[in-house]
Amino acid sequence: MSSKIEIKRIDKSKIDSVDFNNLPFGSVFSDHMFTCTFKDGKWQNPIIEPFAPISLSPAAKIFHYGQSIFEGMKAYKDAEGNTLLFRPLDNCKRLNKSAERLVIPQIPEDVFMDGLKELLKVDEAWIPTNEGSSLYIRPFMFASGNGFHASPANEYKLIIATAPSGAYFAGKVKVLIEEKYARAANGGVGFAKAGGNYAAQFYPTQLAIEKGYNQVIWTDDNTHEFIEEAGAMNIFIRINDTLITSPTSDRILDGITRKSIIQIAEDMNIDVEVRKISVSEVIAAAQAGNLKEMFGAGTAAVISPIAGFGYQGSDYDLPELETPFAGILKKAITDIQTNKAKDPYGWRVVV
Ligand code: PLP
Ligand code: COI
Repeated sequence: MSSKIEIKRIDKSKIDSVDFNNLPFGSVFSDHMFTCTFKDGKWQNPIIEPFAPISLSPAAKIFHYGQSIFEGMKAYKDAEGNTLLFRPLDNCKRLNKSAERLVIPQIPEDVFMDGLKELLKVDEAWIPTNEGSSLYIRPFMFASGNGFHASPANEYKLIIATAPSGAYFAGKVKVLIEEKYARAANGGVGFAKAGGNYAAQFYPTQLAIEKGYNQVIWTDDNTHEFIEEAGAMNIFIRINDTLITSPTSDRILDGITRKSIIQIAEDMNIDVEVRKISVSEVIAAAQAGNLKEMFGAGTAAVISPIAGFGYQGSDYDLPELETPFAGILKKAITDIQTNKAKDPYGWRVVV
């Protein structure tokens, strides 16, 4: 696809109505969105236009068969006013991996990157500059083609919308280690960012919230013995001075924050083990006083320390450390993202 992006600007920006000092996560939307349509076998009509409701037929296959995938990214401003992205091509590649599994056409990397960068230029004023806030970016692709036949659609849309956002979790995070329900199964779509993976989590998560927890930590669907990941983030567990995280698999999202944290921690000479970790190992460590930290890692969650967890009716509190790995690693990754530190890895991309 070589067509130029059409730009239709909003008549009057909504930005003055937004309190940038008090931003919720993902619920205030910027002025514009980028859309590209897959039709007649090719991606076409790239356009940036005002963020607004879209029109779809009730027969669109997204409504019936859930052919829908998404990504989560963030844009930051540095002290010089540059707009920065973090490893954006990795998001595009993962979107295409999800697309392959859901039989959605591959989006060419240049279409994705050009649309994203142009959108960020048009809505540059929406990128928060205050500490802890950023412009959350939500690219998504779905079946816009029609039909009740249970087969892939012949039309799709890629939309990129953005939302200036603050922290994903308000306050301390308490998690419940799941014993009954499963997020993903072998051979399934757990590794993909498919909308259905999240819908399937809502019921068990609601049960956990009713019991006073914020998120579920998923265990393997077969034995429920091994820690996998949480609903919106990968999980790191510190036993004594070793940081442990589960290997990715076809049930676990290959998080970009996760792999960045592994790299940064190793380069800080933190002992990192990527291996299966059982719930019984975590409980034994907690009982022996060796369980020092648990934290989640993800684009929305950044690094979210876990204050405690529940398992089989018992609650376990994590100690409050003076210099937790979570704090050290959070500072290291956000300093790279916002250009407060050197980026030896080449992860930062200037728009
Ligand atoms: N696991 C799940 C289920 C997620 O939704 C996310 C968020 O994207 C992550 C892990 C973390 O992935 P990333 O660091 O690429 O945002
Ligand atoms: C992200 O971290 O970007 C995600 O996509 C997680 C989502 C559930 C908010």
